[in-house]
Amino acid sequence: MRILIGKDYEEISKKAALMVAAQVMLKPNSVLGLATGSTPLGLYRELIAMYQRGELDFSAVRTINLDEYYPLAPDDPQSYHYFMNDHLFKQINVKPENIHLPKGNADAVKAECDAYETMISQVGGIDLQVLGIGVNGHIGFNEPHPFLHAQTHLVDLTAETIQVNSRFFASAEEVPRQAVTMGMGTILKARRILLIASGRSKAEAIKKTVNGLVTTECPSSFLQTHPAVTLVLDQEAAALL
Ligand code: F6R
Repeated sequence: MRILIGKDYEEISKKAALMVAAQVMLKPNSVLGLATGSTPLGLYRELIAMYQRGELDFSAVRTINLDEYYPLAPDDPQSYHYFMNDHLFKQINVKPENIHLPKGNADAVKAECDAYETMISQVGGIDLQVLGIGVNGHIGFNEPHPFLHAQTHLVDLTAETIQVNSRFFASAEEVPRQAVTMGMGTILKARRILLIASGRSKAEAIKKTVNGLVTTECPSSFLQTHPAVTLVLDQEAAALL
């Protein structure tokens, strides 16, 4: 595991953007695995700025997101489809047909999950997967549990995650109770992984990710088994290392 520590959120967002930019420059048709939430917003702002300055071209890039709330429709303002369009896709030249997120309101969820796995294989797998991390060590929405799923699946969100994510909703009651997420195996198949973490609330999870036992009770600990993981942390997130 490679660990880069920056002084603050702005600095780590720039470092993360340089890594994503390098990936796209070296392989213009890269498959980027993307995350939502607060953490990657600075990264996305940097990528948009690079695109606007003519430094980056996304015209051949394929994107595959980690997860989507169930049962939200893609045009629901609280959906991750909406989030990604708003914060990244509509501001760069990625082609709509190259954008992939799980469909949150699929009639047949299991078939949708299986189709998502097939699609990932068909595009040749994920070159670089961007991850945030939950305060409980979740990645994607693979929540701490006695067992984990390898492949894309429907998951019940933990009370802690519902509480933490309620900041994006009018109240905790409005937070969806379930999500469709890539599984641990899907994530670990990515050729390279870039996990970004900022703030003191993530320090405990980062400590377990780096130094803890590999356990399903801290899904991010499985990143220790991957050969090409980089953690980009601000000083607060790295405080317990
Ligand atoms: C989002 C995702 C989640 C978030 C995590 C951290 O697509 O998969 O694992 O990365 O919940 O969220 P923030 O960045 O809001 O702290």
